[in-house]
Amino acid sequence: MGNTEMMKIIYLDNAATTPVDKEVLKEMLPYFEKNFENASTLYKLGREARRAVEKSRKIIADFLQVSSEEIIFTSGGTEANNLAIKGVALANPGKKQIITSVIEHPSVLETCRFLEKQGYRVDYIPVDKEGIVSVEEIKRRINKDTLLVSVMHVNNEIGTIQPIEEIAEICRQKKVLFHTDAVQSFGKLKIDASKFDLLSASGHKINCVKGVGFLYIKKGIRISGILNGGGQERGMRSGTENVSGIVSLGKAVEIAEERIKNKESERVERLRDKIINELLKINGTRLNGSRDKRIFSNVNISFENIEGEALVLLLDDKGICCSTGSACSSHSLKASSVLKAIGLGDFGAHGSLRITLGWQNNEKEIDFTINEIKKAVARLRKISADVLTKHMPGGEEHEKER
Ligand SMILES: Cc1ncc(COP(=O)(O)O)c(C=O)c1O
Repeated sequence: MGNTEMMKIIYLDNAATTPVDKEVLKEMLPYFEKNFENASTLYKLGREARRAVEKSRKIIADFLQVSSEEIIFTSGGTEANNLAIKGVALANPGKKQIITSVIEHPSVLETCRFLEKQGYRVDYIPVDKEGIVSVEEIKRRINKDTLLVSVMHVNNEIGTIQPIEEIAEICRQKKVLFHTDAVQSFGKLKIDASKFDLLSASGHKINCVKGVGFLYIKKGIRISGILNGGGQERGMRSGTENVSGIVSLGKAVEIAEERIKNKESERVERLRDKIINELLKINGTRLNGSRDKRIFSNVNISFENIEGEALVLLLDDKGICCSTGSACSSHSLKASSVLKAIGLGDFGAHGSLRITLGWQNNEKEIDFTINEIKKAVARLRKISADVLTKHMPGGEEHEKER
């Protein structure tokens, strides 16, 4: 039996993905077995699948204070971001400038880079040392050629909350479209989507299954679909609907709404603050991102003289799952561009640890984790001090004398 099979797992990587809620799973199962039919068919069971899809759409629309026809289901956040940006570009060929921030998720940044190759000009707005984008700078860059401003709500690595309502208001005044990637905030923070033109979200970040999400598109916005086919989702997203996934998203949103109403985030925030306060007591640490404009579930801390990957692997040995940066970039050992954007050098950016809490986490897990991090940091620092002693000029002699 492998180590992890015996060990209790403490899952602290909820910004990467979340466990599926039991209630969510229960709600979706009938749509694999008894009611697997295509939602576009005419017979009774097909109509039942359609009814389930529309019920979920209504739950999501009500939650966001918008109307059902403004919700277009997609395969997740990446597709929603692609649809928002490429779709608006396709439908409005007269305008060729896009404004975004340097700390967006790759599904926004890479889409913008793709459009740059098609002749678009993209302005990547820097962030301050807390990771907050400058509203003034965005305002300054908007001109007659500006098609779209896209700024994320909550950053996936450092958890900073951006002033999206203020940016949306500027865009409204200047008659420029505003899109927000709300993948890390949807279902956690209360959002009135009617203030925005486009908003992306994903199911698997809120205890729903992977492979489902949506794009909110305000009525009247000129946008084209980017997938050609059968014209599902009002022609905006061809492809047979992922009925079970859509049902699971509706249920996950109902549960999320209850949690927001019951202010359950306050408990998670207390756990977050405990981790931050305890880890900052270790010498040579710094909190990345903002202390107060920060989602209740995110901790991102840099440790001097530590490789983040080594720390993650030592914690993994203790059954603790967390990450160094975003999951999407963790296969590359390049320093996080988000951490570099807030002013960390290669060194600080390499030694960072991201802990993202979920509803399932409790105080006992957090106490255990804090203790294990303290031990792991001390161990790794001792190893690098020993290596340095050995390899410094005269160090080996010094070693022999000991
Ligand atoms: C901010 C942000 N946007 C977009 C995505 C992509 O979402 P999905 O995994 O559903 O494609 C992620 C996923 O990590 C994210 O954190």
